[in-house]
Amino acid sequence: MTEAPEAPSTARMIDYWLGGTSHHPVDVAAAHAFEGAYGPCADIFRSLRAFSGRAARHVAAGGVDLFLVFGAGIPAQGNVHEAVPGAHVLYTDLDPAIVAAGRALLDGVAGVDYVPGDAADPRGIGAAVLDRGLPGWTARPVGVIFLGLAAFLDDAALARALAEMYDLVPAGSRLAFDFDATELAAYPDALAMMGPGFHMREPEQFAALLGRWRVTDDGIVPVARWRPDGPVEQVPDAFWGGLAVK
Ligand SMILES: C[S@@+](CC[C@H](N)C(=O)[O-])C[C@H]1O[C@@H](n2cnc3c(N)ncnc32)[C@H](O)[C@@H]1O
Repeated sequence: MTEAPEAPSTARMIDYWLGGTSHHPVDVAAAHAFEGAYGPCADIFRSLRAFSGRAARHVAAGGVDLFLVFGAGIPAQGNVHEAVPGAHVLYTDLDPAIVAAGRALLDGVAGVDYVPGDAADPRGIGAAVLDRGLPGWTARPVGVIFLGLAAFLDDAALARALAEMYDLVPAGSRLAFDFDATELAAYPDALAMMGPGFHMREPEQFAALLGRWRVTDDGIVPVARWRPDGPVEQVPDAFWGGLAVK
């Protein structure tokens, strides 16, 4: 594991809730404080990670084997490359500590890489890095994974980011997305812990920000209810999401 950080990270808190190994005491303390204000979180994040897996597998079943992941967090516990083994997966994140932790976990995994990247500036990843991580990406559809990230962008930045992702990838590409519902507003102490830059949205608000991306017939629904492959998990509707197509 990397050197102990001073501040918690939402990505490592999720790793803690999912039973991973890439978190530190500061993350566990923050996770416990959040649960004190909100309630148990492990089942909610397990359900969100399961949605990520279903969405990635659905995209792969459509013939896509290139995945570009924004705000990827810790690449373990069923994250994208584990859901679609054999695919090329390029993980990106804004936080250099998360990128370093991710690179350490992925050392030696063929076809999978983790590089710095700002979801607000998808082109900033750079053509050379994309060429290396996603061979043929300019001519073959890409699965864009945008999960656990919308809350950190205001409406203008989110709409711009989604539009730039649309322009970046070829026709036929897919976007798996989620966003935080307004459910958290019922827990003001938990909401306060997320800070002033945390954005919750109603489904129609998020839909308006998707621009030219076309949502599939599955719609925008609580993530547990998106193409469930078994009994629907009984969790609060904290995250909504879906799949969209270019
Ligand atoms: C809540 S975690 C979600 C991690 C993972 N996607 C998941 O669903 O479990 C949010 C992640 O987004 C990253 N992040 C926040 N703002 C970002 C931005 N503008 N561009 C890229 N990553 C960002 C954080 O560093 C963190 O790793």
